[in-house]
Amino acid sequence: MEERRLGPVVGLGTWNTFGGDAARARDVVHAALAAGVRLFDSSPMYRGAEASLGAALEDRRDEVTVATKIWTPSVEEGREQFRRQVGWFGRVDIEQIHNLVRWRDHLEWLEGERDQGRVTKLGVTHYAAGAFEALAEALRTGSFDVVQLPYNPHEREVEEELLPLAAERGIAVIVMRPLGEGDLLRRPPTAGELAPLREFGVETWAQALLKWALSDDRVDVAIPGTSRVERAGENAAAGSPPWFGPDERPLVERPLP
Ligand SMILES: NC(=O)c1ccc[n+]([C@@H]2O[C@H](COP(=O)([O-])OP(=O)(O)OC[C@H]3O[C@@H](n4cnc5c(N)ncnc54)[C@H](OP(=O)(O)O)[C@@H]3O)[C@@H](O)[C@H]2O)c1
Repeated sequence: MEERRLGPVVGLGTWNTFGGDAARARDVVHAALAAGVRLFDSSPMYRGAEASLGAALEDRRDEVTVATKIWTPSVEEGREQFRRQVGWFGRVDIEQIHNLVRWRDHLEWLEGERDQGRVTKLGVTHYAAGAFEALAEALRTGSFDVVQLPYNPHEREVEEELLPLAAERGIAVIVMRPLGEGDLLRRPPTAGELAPLREFGVETWAQALLKWALSDDRVDVAIPGTSRVERAGENAAAGSPPWFGPDERPLVERPLP
């Protein structure tokens, strides 16, 4: 079970932050690499983000884990998405079926790619609580090594079934939307309110939220997205111990202002 673990670490998400701006993407990727980030998440849905990520990684490709996705109701188009990814990344370390779209059919050919070594791990994702029962059903097939799901103090539905299931089966967990798409950062607590978390290496509210997710030992990777170079380093710094215990996690579970 242990070799399936990917973390706990902070990775970098690329939705809404990379699309169409390859120069900015390169700067953010380089800042993330400099800060120690070694997992990058993308998707064909993210408007050019995969191409920007591939170009930005340049000669550092072998140092990192690329997690991307297949997102289409067509198997033929799915295979085409994969061919393009092999062009950008050489191989795909974690290939995820995005939003469960036609997952049974994609799983069939992706298992073939995994057997051939062009994909290392297979994953499946969904962002909506209404799809979590279907996500659990996919995990119960035993075919997936990784699941990607939303988890932050205001989205905790995954605690009911998905996190226990992933832990029981040794499935690695990647957390999307750890900052609630930025909504949880609009009115951060004061420095005084953050003070009890300082001995855990937390200096900012974003770091508190990221550490909150990673301190659940069923979670492997949190993948905050950012378009800002300085935030790539700030976020990455939350990916090291010490982790929060039962006294600290509730301090991050404050109501939305
Ligand atoms: N499979 C799916 O269905 C799915 C769905 C959603 C997301 N995802 C994946 O999960 C990743 C993360 O989710 P997300 O990007 O939606 O949401 P998120 O990571 O929770 O939040 C991203 C937002 O937070 C802001 N932010 C980041 N770091 C910050 C900091 N230190 N201080 C203040 N603001 C900060 C960013 O703005 P700035 O750009 O201004 O920094 C951005 O608007 C995505 O990028 C994607 O890779 C997957």
